Amino acid sequence: ADGDPALGEKVFKKCSACHAVGEGAKNRVGPELNAVVGRAAATVEGYRYSKPIVAAGADGLVWSEDTLSQFLADPKGFLKGTKMAFAGLKKDDDIADVIAYLKTFGGP
Ligand code: HEM
Repeated sequence: ADGDPALGEKVFKKCSACHAVGEGAKNRVGPELNAVVGRAAATVEGYRYSKPIVAAGADGLVWSEDTLSQFLADPKGFLKGTKMAFAGLKKDDDIADVIAYLKTFGGP
């Protein structure tokens, strides 16, 4: 089911300790997340990614709604060795909502 971007904005508070999104968003602890839905993994200019996510991106990992859902449910399970120190979102609705929110910041 499609998520609700307004609810996703609230969920994103869990992400904003490390990520910025929106006009003028800068890389912080994590890369900026503008237009992330549909983008190849590990491709934000000027951000220093961990080796495993760079390898996954080179292997063709794209942040579709499906791969993003799997990653956000269990970051280190989906991408062994990632430096994203986040336990993951437990609720499927939270995942769908935060993806809907991220989609409001563009994509291909
Ligand atoms: C990477 C989303 C929470 C730190 C990423 C990526 C996405 C993402 C999509 C990959 C970006 C890319 O390939 O360019 C999210 C969302 C979050 C969240 C939606 C909340 C639900 C956090 C938190 C932290 C964090 C709380 C810090 C404690 C990082 C770091 C990376 C990353 C360091 C780079 C990973 C690496 O190089 O292995 N995040 N994130 N994220 N995130 Fe998050």
